[in-house]
Amino acid sequence: MFVAKKVTVSIIKCDVGSLAGHHIVPKPLFDIAQKNMEKAQNEGLINSSFVFNAGDDLELLMVHENGEQNRDIHKLAWDTFKEAADKALKLKLYAAGQDLLKDAFSGNVRGMGPGVAEMEIEERAADPIVVFAADKTSAGSFNYPLFRMFADPMNTAGLVIDPNMLCGFKFEVIDTLEDKSTVLQCPAEMYELLALIGTVGRYAISRIWRASDDLICASSSVSKLSLIAGKYVGKDDPVMIARAQHGLPAVGEILAPFMHSYFVQGWMRGSHWGPLMPVGLKASKCTAFDGPPRIVALGFQVANGKISSDDEGKPLIADLFDDPAFSIARREAIQNGCMLRRMGEFEPARLSAEDMEYTTIQQVLQKLEKRFMPLSQA
Ligand code: 13P
Ligand code: 13P
Ligand code: MG
Ligand code: MG
Repeated sequence: MFVAKKVTVSIIKCDVGSLAGHHIVPKPLFDIAQKNMEKAQNEGLINSSFVFNAGDDLELLMVHENGEQNRDIHKLAWDTFKEAADKALKLKLYAAGQDLLKDAFSGNVRGMGPGVAEMEIEERAADPIVVFAADKTSAGSFNYPLFRMFADPMNTAGLVIDPNMLCGFKFEVIDTLEDKSTVLQCPAEMYELLALIGTVGRYAISRIWRASDDLICASSSVSKLSLIAGKYVGKDDPVMIARAQHGLPAVGEILAPFMHSYFVQGWMRGSHWGPLMPVGLKASKCTAFDGPPRIVALGFQVANGKISSDDEGKPLIADLFDDPAFSIARREAIQNGCMLRRMGEFEPARLSAEDMEYTTIQQVLQKLEKRFMPLSQA
C-alpha cells in the first residue's frame, strides 16, 4: 500500500538588523544563515533549505520531517538569528536584534519575536507550494489575498470549475487582541468571515483547510510584535505558505490577487497605510518612506521530503513576482503611494487612533495630556 510521506514546510523569519535603516538584509547575515542551514542539512535535521530576504527580514525556508513546532527546528532558527544579530551588532547595522524579544530560547520561537508559518503535509504525487514573505506590513494583510484565493470564485475559477473544490474551504481566524480563534466555512459563512477579516488590524486568517477532507492548504504567521513587547518594536512582516493545484487553487489563482496593489497597514514606523507591491527577489528592499510595503512569492515542488533540486542539490526555486504580469500592480503601488504621501500625517494615510495605540505616538499624547483643560475652564 502507498503510504504518503509526511513532510513539514517551515518558514521562520526575523529582523536581526539591517543595512542603512530598515532597508535590506546584508550579505554577512545571509552567509551566517546559509552556513547554519548547510550544517543542519549535513547533520540530517533538515532535508532542504532556502535563505532569502523580504526587505530587512531574514527568511529561513526549511523542509524537514520533524513536524510543526519542533523544538530542534525552532532552536536552529533561534540560534541562527542570535548569531546573525551578534554580527549585526558588530557591524553596527541598524536595529540589530530588533525582533529577538526574549533572551533565552524556551522550546518554540512563537511569542519570542520571530514570525513562523508551518505546514505538515502528506506529500502528493506532485506538490506545488508557494511561500510569501512581506516587509513593512502586518499579519492581517494576508486576509484579502487569502480570501480571494480560497473563497472568491471571481478570482479562483477552480471554485466553480473543479468538482474537488465545490465543497469550499474552512478558515481559522485569530483575534490577535484577545488571543482566541474560531473556524468559519465558505461559501456558507462567507459574509460572517468577511465581517471579521475586513478588520485587518485585529483579525488574521491563520490556517485554511479543504472542507471535504480537512486537507491543509494554507498557513500564515500571526503575531503582533507590539503586543508581545508591550510597545512598538517594528512591524510583524508576515509570512505564509499556500499549497496549490489538483483540487486546490492553481498557482496562477494563488498569484492572481496580486495583479493589483491593495492597501496594507505598516508603512513607515508601522504607523501608515501603504500600497503593497509584489516584487522579485532583486527588488525585495524598502526605500521610499521605508517602502512601499513589498511582498515576494517563491514557488517550489516538494519531492521526497525535500525541495525539488538540480543535479548539484541546489533547490529549484521560482521567483514568481519577478514577472511583467505584476507591472501594473507595481505601478499602482507607486502611484497610490505618492497619493497617500501627499496627505502626510492625516488619516487615512496615517493609521487610525485605535491602531496607533501600539506605536510610539503614545508618548507624545501622554506629554500633551496635562495641557488639556476642560472647556469650561479654558
Ligand atoms: P490541476 O487541476 O491539475 O491543478 O490543473 C488546473 C490547471 O490547469 C490550472 O491552470
Ligand atoms: P521593520 O519592522 O521592517 O523593521 O520596519 C520598522 C519601521 O518602523 C520602518 O519604518
Ligand atoms: Mg527593521
Ligand atoms: Mg521588516
